Amino acid sequence: MRKVPLLESLRIIGRGSANWLAQRPIVVSFEVTDACTCYCKHCDHGGPKDESRNLKPADYRRYMEALRPCVVQVSGGEPLMRDDIVEIVRNIKGGSKIPYTILVSNWSLMTEEKYLALREAGVYQFSVSLDFADRRHDDFRRHPGLYDHLSRLIPRLAALGHDDIVLNSCITSENVGEIGAIADKAREWGVNLCYSAYSIRRTGCRDYFLNTPDQLATLNRALDAVEARRDKTNWIVNSTSTLDATRRYFQDRGTPGCKAGLRFLVVTADGALQPCSMQFKRFPLNERARMVNEFTKTNACDECYVSIRSYLDKNFPQLLWENVSGFFSFRSE
Ligand SMILES: C[S@@+](CC[C@H](N)C(=O)[O-])C[C@H]1O[C@@H](n2cnc3c(N)ncnc32)[C@H](O)[C@@H]1O
Ligand code: SF4
Ligand code: SF4
Repeated sequence: MRKVPLLESLRIIGRGSANWLAQRPIVVSFEVTDACTCYCKHCDHGGPKDESRNLKPADYRRYMEALRPCVVQVSGGEPLMRDDIVEIVRNIKGGSKIPYTILVSNWSLMTEEKYLALREAGVYQFSVSLDFADRRHDDFRRHPGLYDHLSRLIPRLAALGHDDIVLNSCITSENVGEIGAIADKAREWGVNLCYSAYSIRRTGCRDYFLNTPDQLATLNRALDAVEARRDKTNWIVNSTSTLDATRRYFQDRGTPGCKAGLRFLVVTADGALQPCSMQFKRFPLNERARMVNEFTKTNACDECYVSIRSYLDKNFPQLLWENVSGFFSFRSE
């Protein structure tokens, strides 16, 4: 994964430090629509939704001014369903180098033109969900033709050389045996890789969690093999400590200490603040402090270890170190 240049790294880390001290969020996830092109087995989104109350592109400026995050995820639902997604990104960026902006998408609607326009608008990282390295992906996402589309488009866009595409693979009981195959596919397509972990919280379904000793042993063997494949290109985006924490999450069936609402939060498609995408207590933009008091301070939920948490459950020195040495690695241009 390409590394953020020195000056930008310093700016991001500077803002991150200020936010940490001021108890403002480090990461904000904008769910720009609830609608989706897929009906994934592990997710509570899926299909068309009422879009009449969605924020408009210019509304995002107000949220950026109030929250000043250093990392933004643009997500959904499926964010590419918004025809004005490029405008949304422009408004989030506001002409500035920060925030570090990640588009989290299933890529069913991605084209070369959109990819280039989104890069130009300020997307720094494209996270593309991939659950299987073959057409079983279509069955899991209930979207015929999606895998073939990805396998044509991703290597072609990777060959442009921007090194900004990351396969984002959510580990479930269905694909725990495919962890290595997904890594092989990332290498074959010339892109990076990030693993995430299934949470029962979205749908209540326990079947996709890792429930047996065999599944846990498969996970550990596969992640050992992934660790052995790290190299200086940073193509495995998760840090070792995050993958270790992912193992513990499945082993212990949860990870306590969540900072949702404080270190990260979600802005819903219609503009409410939520602690995370799986906690539906809604607060207006000007009542973030109330969200911290009423939710974060007493939150005992330990039911996910999705990537937004995995960046931010660490203490500040560890977070800074991992970002300096990995994600935002210093490199002179
Ligand atoms: C909710 S989707 C939104 C963006 C886009 N539609 C996509 O699929 O990439 C973001 C990520 O959440 C993951 N996800 C969905 N359901 C999940 C669950 N129950 N637990 C953990 N991650 C989940 C998806 O696999 C995807 O990588
Ligand atoms: S995981 Fe993403 S693509 Fe699948 S239903 Fe949920 S929002 Fe849609
Ligand atoms: S552990 Fe935190 S981020 Fe995860 S579902 Fe619970 S409150 Fe949300």
